[in-house]
Amino acid sequence: MATAIAHPNIALVKYWGKQVGPGNLPATPSLSITVAGLTTTTRVEAAERDSLCINGKVRRDSKVEALLDAMRNVFDLPPLGIETRNDFPTGAGLASSASGFAALVTAIDGEFDLGMSPTQRSTWARQGSASAARSIFGGFATLAARDDNWTGTELLAKEAWPLEAVVAVTAETPKPVSSSEGMERSRTTSPFYDAWCRSTEADFETACRAVTNRDFGSLSAVAEHSCLKLHALMLASRPALFYWNQATIAAMETIRRLRDAGTPVFYTIDAGPQLKAVCAPGHRGAVAALLAKSPGVLRVVRGGLGDGARVVNDPRSS
Ligand code: DP6
Repeated sequence: MATAIAHPNIALVKYWGKQVGPGNLPATPSLSITVAGLTTTTRVEAAERDSLCINGKVRRDSKVEALLDAMRNVFDLPPLGIETRNDFPTGAGLASSASGFAALVTAIDGEFDLGMSPTQRSTWARQGSASAARSIFGGFATLAARDDNWTGTELLAKEAWPLEAVVAVTAETPKPVSSSEGMERSRTTSPFYDAWCRSTEADFETACRAVTNRDFGSLSAVAEHSCLKLHALMLASRPALFYWNQATIAAMETIRRLRDAGTPVFYTIDAGPQLKAVCAPGHRGAVAALLAKSPGVLRVVRGGLGDGARVVNDPRSS
C-alpha cells in the first residue's frame, strides 16, 4: 500500500479551454502556485476490483476510470482500491481535482515501483485533469507544451520567493457546472474565446518573467487581468457561466481597498465562489484578518507555497 499527498494549486495565468481531440490537451499554457495548508491524501493498494472512495463515500468517477484505462495500456496494473481525502471542500473551486489526480498518479507510481520522473507523473496527471499536471510540482509551476508534450515543470522553487496565500471560503457546496463542461461551453459559444487564447499566450510570457524577476507588481497586474478576463469569457458563454456570489464580490472589493492602502496583495478566482488572495511575504496575517471580516466570508484558510506531490510513509507526519 502506498500513500501520497498533494496540494491544490492556484492558477495565476488561467487554463480554460482544451484542444479538440484526445489526451486532455490544454489550448493555452498556464502558471500557478502550489499551496501548502490544503492537502489531498490518497492511498492505493491492489484489490479484487477497482474501487474509489472520496472522503469516506464510495464513488464512480469517469475521469478516474479513463485515466486508469489509459495507464493500463502502458503499465501492468492490478485492480486498485483507491481511498482519497481532502481536508478542504471538494468540487467547490478549490482545485480538488488538481491535487486529487496529482496524488493518485504519485501513489500508483509509488505502490507499483513504476519509476516515473516528475515530468512523466505530470503528463499522466494532466490526462486526468490538466491543472493536476501543475500540482506534481511545488512552488511556481507551469503547464506548457515542451517538445510536443504538454507537461508541468517547476519555474521557481518555493524558497526563492515565498509568497503567501489566503483562501476566503464563501460557500462549501460543489460548483453547479464542472470546469470541463464549462470550458467546452466557452470554446463553443463565447465570442471572446479566440481572443482569450491569443492573449493568454502573452500573459503567460509576462507572468513567467515576473516570477523569474520576483516582480510582485507585474505578477499582480497580469494575474488579476487573467482572472477577470477568464470571468468575462465565462459570462459571455451561453448559457452564461456565473461562479461568483455576493461574498466573492465583497471580498474582491476588500482586497482592492487593502492594495490601495499599500499592502502588496492581489486576488484570483477560479470556477467557484472562493476568493484566493496572494500576497508578498509577511502580509498574510493582515490579509486574513480583513478577509475574515469581509461580508459573507465563512472562513479563511492561510497557506504558503507548498511542495509537489509526494509519497509519504506516515501521512500524518507531513
Ligand atoms: C479555472 O483542470 O479542473 O481552475 O482538465 O477538465 O479537469 P480539466 O479542468 P481543470 O480546470 C481548471 C480550471 C481553473 C483554472 C486553472 O486551474 O488553470
